[in-house]
Amino acid sequence: MSGVQITDKVYWIGKVDDREVPFHRLILKKGTTYNSYLLKTEKPTIVDTVDIIYGREYLENVSKIVNPADIQFIVINHVEPDHAGALPALAAKAPNAKIVCTEEAVSLLKDMFKLHQREFITVKDGDTLDIGGKTLRFLKTPFLHTEETMMTYEPEDGILFSCDVFSTHIASHEVFNDLAKINYIEKFNGYYTTIMAPHRPYIRKMLEKIKDLKVNVIGPSHGYILRDNAQKFISMYDEMSNIGEMGKEKKVVIIYSTMTGNTTKIADRIAKGMEDLGITPQVFNMKNADKDEVKNSIHECDGLLAGSSTKYADTVGEVEAFLKSLEGETFKGKFAAAFGSYGWSGEAVIHVEEQLEQLGFDIINQRYLIKVLGIDTPLFPLRIRFLREEELDRAEDSGRVFAEQVLTH
Ligand SMILES: Cc1cc2nc3c(=O)[nH]c(=O)nc-3n(C[C@H](O)[C@H](O)[C@H](O)COP(=O)(O)O)c2cc1C
Ligand SMILES: [Fe+2]
Ligand SMILES: [Fe+2]
Repeated sequence: MSGVQITDKVYWIGKVDDREVPFHRLILKKGTTYNSYLLKTEKPTIVDTVDIIYGREYLENVSKIVNPADIQFIVINHVEPDHAGALPALAAKAPNAKIVCTEEAVSLLKDMFKLHQREFITVKDGDTLDIGGKTLRFLKTPFLHTEETMMTYEPEDGILFSCDVFSTHIASHEVFNDLAKINYIEKFNGYYTTIMAPHRPYIRKMLEKIKDLKVNVIGPSHGYILRDNAQKFISMYDEMSNIGEMGKEKKVVIIYSTMTGNTTKIADRIAKGMEDLGITPQVFNMKNADKDEVKNSIHECDGLLAGSSTKYADTVGEVEAFLKSLEGETFKGKFAAAFGSYGWSGEAVIHVEEQLEQLGFDIINQRYLIKVLGIDTPLFPLRIRFLREEELDRAEDSGRVFAEQVLTH
């Protein structure tokens, strides 16, 4: 298959990969597709490429419908090599093409594919590009599912090139959803659950951004092109990502010890972040809290945050003794994370995290954040130097991320 026409000048030029595809520590038994698109306008433009291993085959296919030397723009919505992988091969044969992507993507692409000599066009949210007979509008959609990601909208035909969003991992030889021979809805939903759900707040922002666009066709990066009832798929994302009043049903407890009140302020900021998602945590300063009440609250809660500042490389106050008193009880299925203010080394936070781990909580820490969310900002264990304002914002982010995990599990 060398190209499938979508509209007058827009072609699918992707690759159907019907192997068992290894992907993010999963095996995609039903394979997948890497959807690449060609807009054969006066200034021929390609939106995304295919997986790195299909570079040569891809180029042969592209050459059947357009002379690569004529290509003016290569839009890269997302740098992961299942879509940007054939960029170096394509760029080499398309010397006149400028690479169009977000600022965050430029350095990643240059470093990954050694493209330091190429000309890039860096786009901001809402920027447009005239490609001779059609316009492209770029919508930044960070963390869907990595930071540099964007979508590309073509208003003349109403096509939204949505990148990994609205994708399905399926080797869809029929290309379009109305031609599907099987019921793919379950797989479409499954893709949302595994890849997109952890980024739910960004899905909400994206939906807000596209809500007034006329979308006739969704051209995602994997699986069917959704030309039959595109709006239905947008509504499905809206439904799946809507947590409504769910926050009110979830319980989070924050306990801490402090010497001079810095850790109190961190606890307050974490709580503030949670309130954005409708969760109002119960906050206990262990100095004057009723230990039995705290114990009961923890048994009823969905998530626990425990904090201590550091004094001579150790915890302060009563948090450590209190956590010790919980030994032997079971906390499986509850999330927990550690936090605290410190000066130069901050060992207390590590001691507290270890205690939480030994008690059997599901720990949210840097390992979890990288593994589950692909986030490399050190949100947990949350260590804030003294009470530096510029670091304190991180406490609110941490609160939001913790609340998000509690809400979506
Ligand atoms: C007596 C004393 C000992 C301290 N020892 C350490 C230490 O070993 N490592 C460290 O990172 N910070 C240390 N600090 C710094 C505190 O952790 C820091 O001031 C923190 O912001 C206090 O937070 P709090 O007000 O919540 O107690 C020490 C502070 C004091 C007063
Ligand atoms: Fe991706
Ligand atoms: Fe992908």
